[in-house]
Amino acid sequence: MIVPTLIERKRHGQSLTEDEWRFVVRAYTAGDMPDYQMAALLMAVVLRGLDDVELGTLTDAMRASGKRMEFGDHVPPRVDKHSTGGVGDKVSIVLTPLVASVGVAVPMISGRGLSHTGGTLDKLQAIPGFRVDLSLAATCRQVEQIGAAMVGQTAEIAPADQKLYALRDVTATVDAIPLMAASIMSKKLAEGLNGLVLDIKRGNGAFLPELDRGLALASTMIRLGEERGCPTVALLTAMDRPLGHACGNALEIAESVKMLRGNGPTDLYDVVLALGAEMLLLAGIDADRAAASTRLRDALASGRAAEKFAEIVQAQGGDPAVIDRPELLPRAPLVREYRARAPGYVHATLAREIGRAVVALGGGRQTIDDEIDPAVGIVVPAKPGDLVERDDVIAIVHARDESGCRTAMAALDDAVRIGSERPDSPLPLVSHRVTAGGVESLT
Ligand code: URA
Repeated sequence: MIVPTLIERKRHGQSLTEDEWRFVVRAYTAGDMPDYQMAALLMAVVLRGLDDVELGTLTDAMRASGKRMEFGDHVPPRVDKHSTGGVGDKVSIVLTPLVASVGVAVPMISGRGLSHTGGTLDKLQAIPGFRVDLSLAATCRQVEQIGAAMVGQTAEIAPADQKLYALRDVTATVDAIPLMAASIMSKKLAEGLNGLVLDIKRGNGAFLPELDRGLALASTMIRLGEERGCPTVALLTAMDRPLGHACGNALEIAESVKMLRGNGPTDLYDVVLALGAEMLLLAGIDADRAAASTRLRDALASGRAAEKFAEIVQAQGGDPAVIDRPELLPRAPLVREYRARAPGYVHATLAREIGRAVVALGGGRQTIDDEIDPAVGIVVPAKPGDLVERDDVIAIVHARDESGCRTAMAALDDAVRIGSERPDSPLPLVSHRVTAGGVESLT
């Protein structure tokens, strides 16, 4: 096939055939199609989109570029959760052991931090010794033995996506709905799931801040999942402010452990319970949401969820002592409070700006080779709508050095808005539920 002709046709808004998409994915993964041709084709997709047949073929070809997780009949139903990414979003770290502790198997493949958002893998690696590079066979074995694994993508799972994603990251072709949907679903469909729950973030800190684009992404992924035998449900959740308080790798592990003991921040608790209940419904563990929520609350209160996390940490080479003694996690040498300069209502704690400040502190990557500093970050106890007095603590910066402290304090000047008028309500924590049947508003 003549690749420039395919690029040209897509550039003119025409559809490529199934054979043509399969050829492109195979050739690129094998190294027979250069990055510059694939980058041009991706940009044509960003500008012209894909029709439903093209999207399905691309997703299937990317999934088929690697292996699929295989499980024996004795393994309980498998359900995963995928988030489109946010700031302070430690939901996966709580949800995986929580849901596994009540009998749902979770073979979770997570990602690294991207742009201003944190990544589950970077957070887990703040735990001394924790390994995320398990082979496919070791991941399946661990899921069979203890009900969950939290690992990164390897060349065994959707290698086409691994290569394509790296290229999209540096060619401004990430935030296109068909490309995001194919990328995410090609990995999830390789996990051999019985169900998938999507956490689609909206608001200032989300990759797709606008509600209509979030809903479009949700419907696209749900269609892909359902048509391939994987029942899929999405919740739209707020990412105009950080989720919970802690933003930064070790700080988020410490907050997750608190949550697993049943005393985390209420917004995190509510999002975890909403997503967890959907997972239990898909797994057929409970028939209604109230029963599922009660089961999850009990698992948190009884310590079973925290015990399951200790099992996962131990199985993946980490030090489970951090669960009883979070002070064993890496700690930053400088801790400074950011205080309100005047009394008033908190109007905003902008997630994107806070995420960028965490990256600037060293908690995320600015170039592909950057080392992450697991200890640094920002804890933001204040929430939009809070009434604060002058000098009340709005945020706490954990920094490696004075220059990091200064940068983070300046970023907080931008991120935190306080005014004398009572602000409009922030985005509802969980605003919409999307299924194959349509969109339900939850507010
Ligand atoms: N996460 C993914 O895995 N792929 C995307 O394209 C965007 C977010």
